[in-house]
Formats: sequence, C-alpha cells, structure tokens
Amino acid sequence: AKQKILLLPGDGIGPEIMEQAVRIIDWLKAERGLDVELSEDVVGGASLAKYDVPIRDEVIAKAKAADAVLFGSVGDPAWKDVPFDRRPEVAILRLRKELNLYANLRPAKLFDPLLSASALKPDVVRGLDLMIVRETVGGVYFGEPRGIETLPDGTKRGVNTEVYTTAEIERVARVAFDLARLRSGRVCSVEKGNVMESGLLWREVVTDLHKREYSDVTLTHMLADNCAMQLVRDPRQFDVMVTGNLFGDLLSDLASMLTGSLGMLPSATLGTPEGTDKQAALYEPIHGSAPDIAGKGIANPLAQILSLAMMLRYSLDRGADSELIEQAVSNVLASGLRTADIAAAGESRVSTAEMGEAVLKELQKL
Ligand code: NAI
Ligand code: MG
Repeated sequence: AKQKILLLPGDGIGPEIMEQAVRIIDWLKAERGLDVELSEDVVGGASLAKYDVPIRDEVIAKAKAADAVLFGSVGDPAWKDVPFDRRPEVAILRLRKELNLYANLRPAKLFDPLLSASALKPDVVRGLDLMIVRETVGGVYFGEPRGIETLPDGTKRGVNTEVYTTAEIERVARVAFDLARLRSGRVCSVEKGNVMESGLLWREVVTDLHKREYSDVTLTHMLADNCAMQLVRDPRQFDVMVTGNLFGDLLSDLASMLTGSLGMLPSATLGTPEGTDKQAALYEPIHGSAPDIAGKGIANPLAQILSLAMMLRYSLDRGADSELIEQAVSNVLASGLRTADIAAAGESRVSTAEMGEAVLKELQKL
C-alpha cells in the first residue's frame, strides 16, 4: 500500500520552505520509485483565516491516519492579541497532544563546510553527528502536585514534581534503542539518579530493557550535569542520547548550538495515539515561522529538506534516499552556496528557491 504523507506548511516562511521539500519528494517519486500519496492542509494562522480555528478536527484525524506528517511552522503576528486557544501555535500543541508524541528527536549534525559557524573549535566538532531523544509528555513539566501555594505565614511556595513511570521510560528508551540500530549502535542514557528517585528508576528501567531486548546495542549512563560538560568538551563521543523532558530541553538546545545554524536543524516527534498501536510521526524544522523574513524568499530551506530526510529514514524505511539528500546538502554547502542566515559578512547569498534548486541539481548528479 502507498504510504501516506500529510503536508502542513503553516505560516510565515513555512510554505516557502515546504515548496522546496516538495520538489525533492516529486523528484524521488519520479526517479527513485518513492511510492507515496501526498495530501496538504492548512494549520495555524492560515487555518484561522480560512476556518476560524488554528486546526480542524479533520486535520487531526488526517494526521493520525498518515504514516508521517511533514510540518512547516506556525505563528503569525496578526494573531498576537487573541485568547490563547485561538493562537496559531495551538495547532502544533494540539497535534503533539492528540498524536501522543512522546519522543522528540533532535539531531545535531555539523556539515563541515559550516565549521566556522560553530562556537567550538573545528577539531572538536568536525563530523559531529549525534541525536538526542527527549521524553516530551511526562516528567517535571507535567508531574503532580504542582502550583504556587501560600503558606500560613504568608510566604509562597512554588512546587513541581518530577514523575516517571516504568511504561513512560520504557517507551522512550525503546525509541532510542531502535534508532541506535539504524545508526552506530550506541545509546547514552542521561539522568541524575545520584540525587533524584525518578532518575534512579530511569536508569533501572533502561538497563533492564537493554538486557531483555537490546543487548546488541552498547548502553552507557551519564549524569546530566556531566553530560552538559561533555557535550561541550567532546561532543563526538555521543551517538544516540536518551533523557527526560527537562534535561532533554536543556541539552538539546545546547547541542543545537554546537552546529551554529538554526535554519538547518530538523527534528522529529514520534508517538502512539491513545487507543491505537500505530506509530505517529511528525517532522519539522526546529525554527519557527520567522515572520521577520517571511515573503521575501530568502529563508533557508535546508532544515525543512533535512526534516524530509529524517522522515525518509525513520518513518518510510528509505535510508538510502535519506543519505542521498544529506550528501546533496553537504555538497551544495561545500560548493559555497549560502542563504543569508548562514552567509558570512561579504559572502554572496542565494534565495530560498535557488538553494532548493541547487540541492535538486546535486541529487540529479549523485
Ligand atoms: P524563529 O525561529 O521563527 O526565528 C528566529 C530568528 O531566526 C529570526 O530572525 C528568523 O528570521 C531566523 N530564522 C529562523 N528560521 C530561519 C530560516 N529557515 N532561514 C533563515 N532564517 C531563519 O523564532 P521566533 O522569531 O521566536 O518565532 C516566530 C514565530 O514562530 C512565533 O510565532 C513562534 O511562536 C513560532 N514558533 C513556532 C514553532 C513551531 O511551529 N514548531 C517553533 C518555534 C517558534
Ligand atoms: Mg527549548
């Protein structure tokens, strides 16, 4: 059966960069036998303008039925002063919730031609290619009890609680182990079991699952504070990392800056919608809708194109096509092509469409 892909370009630069990803999908269909059925819909400000809601139930249902969703980004200053439930961003929040997307995959891959963009020394980051798997629906951001309470003496107390169950840890660890099998076969699990019970359980559950089902993968453990230090000292020691919501938030932002190029970083969120055993997956750039440059045709389409590459590898079982795209991107950068966001002072800049075109040309050559 044909695999189904739902395209949700969204707002701002979303449609501009999605257009370039779709050109590549069309090429893969024509030249590489990719057999997918595409459908497209509106979300965010675009949906508010047309349907008066940030996302329709019908679109949620389509996303659940799809093998993968390729998402642009949502957010539009035109909808700034509206109640929260009518903001464009509700579209992505609802998708994450309704698809139960509990694992966020954030690669930090450095394309060597951009070595100078990294804040670290070239020798530390050359060839960097790691993947952080962050748990996203549990942990201290959601645990009960939570709240701000006033004590009898009038002082206030802010409370959050880190809670993880065996099942929550196991399902995200499984994602990490499965990924490792498609990569270098190594997983580093990160917690603070030295001072946190939830971290102690985390380590126990990951160790146990590893022993039962994934003994072919190499598993190591690291405390989160040491991990932050190690990511800056020697990031290439890592391949797949798996961690909870809070540590994953911090460490993935840190890791993204090892590459120094926001407009180039893709991401994936994976999960299983309640009441099904089907895998849901949403792929999107980590950046937003960039209203400051929307409509100018200068956005960098590479994060969107690399999100497509992730989708091919992790949802569509097309690892070879995925590699081809990454190689094409690498070659285009090596040839010196730069959009404004990655150009150094004085370097010439190409448009969104020119960058997309160059990747396509490179694919035709490979
Ligand atoms: P942003 O990521 O949209 O932009 C930050 C800066 O990076 C801007 O100067 C922008 O021009 C630049 N930039 C981002 N992507 C680029 C690209 N591909 N090429 C060249 N330059 C790029 O973050 P910001 O400004 O904080 O948010 C703008 C809107 O996006 C807000 O409404 C926010 O809520 C939304 N947003 C949506 C996300 C999503 O859909 N998942 C994620 C993050 C923000
Ligand atoms: Mg963050």
